[in-house]
Amino acid sequence: MLHNHKKIEKNSILLLVLTLVAISIGGLVEIVPLFRIETTIEKVSGMRPLTPLELVGQQIYIRENCSSCHSQQIRPLRDEVERYGHYSLAAESMYDHPFLWGSKRIGPDLARVGGKYSDEWHTAHLTRPRDMVPESIMPSYRFMMNNAADVLNIKKLLKTYRMVGVPYTDEMVESAYGDAMAQANVDSDPSGLNARYGAKVNIRNFDGQKNFVSEMDALVAYLQTLGTLADIKNYQLQEKK
Ligand code: HEC
Repeated sequence: MLHNHKKIEKNSILLLVLTLVAISIGGLVEIVPLFRIETTIEKVSGMRPLTPLELVGQQIYIRENCSSCHSQQIRPLRDEVERYGHYSLAAESMYDHPFLWGSKRIGPDLARVGGKYSDEWHTAHLTRPRDMVPESIMPSYRFMMNNAADVLNIKKLLKTYRMVGVPYTDEMVESAYGDAMAQANVDSDPSGLNARYGAKVNIRNFDGQKNFVSEMDALVAYLQTLGTLADIKNYQLQEKK
């Protein structure tokens, strides 16, 4: 074996050809599966693009880099599934740009945090984390109560997400501002919002402040969707078949 290898090392052309063969096998193994990537995204009902208000909330999550302490991916390992719920499906993050899977868990995974706590809990926790969890090292985000959610540029934001493949319709783009206000303002008529994004959309005054749509409203609206959109129960039934 070593003797044969000597031959290769002494013949530069042969060495070159065999090196290329070895590299191309490695390359093919890595590249070919990418052409079939769509087969790895499982079909699951219920996924919808984020509403304008939730999308603004996601921008705040990105801006504050919550991902530096929180992951959004539950791995199919027993301890994770028991703690956080069903493992994350690819389809659940298909509308996320950029992906917010994260790689650190200084705080808990947030992939299924939607519906786990009330809006009041989130608002109090984000305002003063240690009031809710005394040993918490999470920073306070109190300023979000006083900052208006950036809904003025919302049409542009939806258009940008559409450019990268999120299926926002013209109607969704046109009504984006109204939809954002309707979702956080209990008094306005949400029927258009429901028609566009489904009956299950959370329509509430998330931060409890009247007549003011704050960054807190947007962020909490976003957090409350996490892990609640995909129809996991049906997915599990299909899997068993
Ligand atoms: C320095 C790290 C750090 C950063 C940055 C951070 N968090 Fe946390 N977070 C934690 C820790 C630690 C906990 C667990 C203790 C607690 O509940 O406060 C936590 C808990 C949470 C929880 C409760 C999760 C559960 O299941 O109990 C939510 C929701 C949350 N964080 C949201 C956020 C959001 C949104 C941001 C960005 C605006 C953020 N965090 C930024 C460290 C962080």
